[in-house]
Amino acid sequence: MRSLIDINDLSTEEINHLIATANDIIANPDKYAEKCRRKKLATLFYEPSTRTRLSFESAMLELGGSVIGFSEANSSSSAKGESVADTARTVSCFADIIAMRHPKEGAPMVASLAASIPVINAGDGGHNHPTQTLTDLITISREKGRLDNMTVGVCGDLKFGRTVHSLINAMSRYEGIKFVMISPEELTIPDYVMQDVLQKKNIPYTETRSLEEAMPDLDILYMTRVQRERFFNEADYIRLKDSYILTPEKLQNAKKDLAILHPLPRVNEISTAVDADHRACYFKQVLYGKYIRMALIMMLLEVEE
Ligand code: NCD
Repeated sequence: MRSLIDINDLSTEEINHLIATANDIIANPDKYAEKCRRKKLATLFYEPSTRTRLSFESAMLELGGSVIGFSEANSSSSAKGESVADTARTVSCFADIIAMRHPKEGAPMVASLAASIPVINAGDGGHNHPTQTLTDLITISREKGRLDNMTVGVCGDLKFGRTVHSLINAMSRYEGIKFVMISPEELTIPDYVMQDVLQKKNIPYTETRSLEEAMPDLDILYMTRVQRERFFNEADYIRLKDSYILTPEKLQNAKKDLAILHPLPRVNEISTAVDADHRACYFKQVLYGKYIRMALIMMLLEVEE
């Protein structure tokens, strides 16, 4: 029985296989309509979500399975003081697979140790978000036709943005990837990503405060929201929240085949005027997220493709 807690739980071959399966689902959805018949997904969300939870749920429904769960900690027994481990053990009696989002780093891992069914980390605090990374990778692969030899700009809250941590981890495995880290000084990438991933693997990266300066070199621009809920005080959030706002003017120096990604939700960091630009991929990205989660559910449930 396998869980997905960290993107490193998947080999590069497995990631490539998931992308290939998701592409096949996009081309032949009918072939997959019954693959998870009589299987149940439990979504245990202790933190707000629109895309991740609904895309997991639609993924399971489109595989012919069904869905149970909660979308608020307060409506579960966690409000009575139940531990994540006990909840995971309990839900193992009802479902075949769990997708869990939790504000505490490591909670899905604790759940996976107690559960007797696979657990998928759907975001743990400011730590990791491996299924968003799978979503990002299939988007990049479909938009650019490759996952290697690219300059990837990550912009915004690199400190608390869990999607960035998992993305850097995954993209560092491919040949010829360079990163440009664009953030305010207070929101730079955590040391554990810097040291354990970038420096350890000798991945080239530069750091800048200026999105405009970085723009001309980028093949991918990954924008992120400043993570209000992870700040210790509101004044710091207010000071930093509008550090970067992508506008059509700022794209004037960008490559013609740049791909702009964002895990969403966006707050202010991409002006809605950018949405009409052919380089804006963030809503396509949402759709691809459903297909790659279908592929992942099948893999973890060991359903034959
Ligand atoms: C992200 C998350 O929850 O980390 N959203 C998502 O899952 N698509 C990004 C964010 O909340 O800023």
